Amino acid sequence: MGVSTLSEAQFRRACSRFATGVAVAAVVDESGTPHGLTINSFTSVSLDPPLVLICISYHTPLLQRFLHASHFGLSFLKADQWEISDRFAMRVDDRFDGISWQLGQFGVPLLSESLAAMECATRQILDGGDHTILMAEVMAAETGAGDPLLFFDSSYQNVAR
Ligand SMILES: Cc1cc2nc3c(=O)[nH]c(=O)nc-3n(C[C@H](O)[C@H](O)[C@H](O)COP(=O)(O)O)c2cc1C
Repeated sequence: MGVSTLSEAQFRRACSRFATGVAVAAVVDESGTPHGLTINSFTSVSLDPPLVLICISYHTPLLQRFLHASHFGLSFLKADQWEISDRFAMRVDDRFDGISWQLGQFGVPLLSESLAAMECATRQILDGGDHTILMAEVMAAETGAGDPLLFFDSSYQNVAR
């Protein structure tokens, strides 16, 4: 077998050329407090059943919250919501402070303003190197109007049309 010559920097650079949307993934703890993080690892997996996946780093303490919760919420961000994306990737005491959100019908925190929202029931937890892959069934989904926040080349972009 050949030995990989791939450096981490080159891998990151190549991955950054794949444009993605940006979402806030969130759960509530036993006391009803919401916890969430910015992700761009969302992938739609299957139509029947409706499955999606997200990847969460082993390095974030939030992972435990997601592993303990049966469901999580996904809020896809709009083009003008880059500050929310930054906030949910930052070390602040309460990321939801000052953010308008509500519980969905499956008890997951959803941002009040978003391009689309999904309520997901975790079905499989898979090992993915330094991330954990959460495969989930989408139980409910809503869509709004607007342009997406894009992440490309390690920075936020807007759709050109
Ligand atoms: C655009 C963007 C996309 C991100 N995507 C992911 C992701 O898919 N999975 C992940 O674990 N972290 C992702 N992060 C980083 C997390 O949001 C961040 O590390 C996390 O909120 C830190 O939580 P902690 O302070 O509790 O460790 C992303 C950050 C940004 C800005």
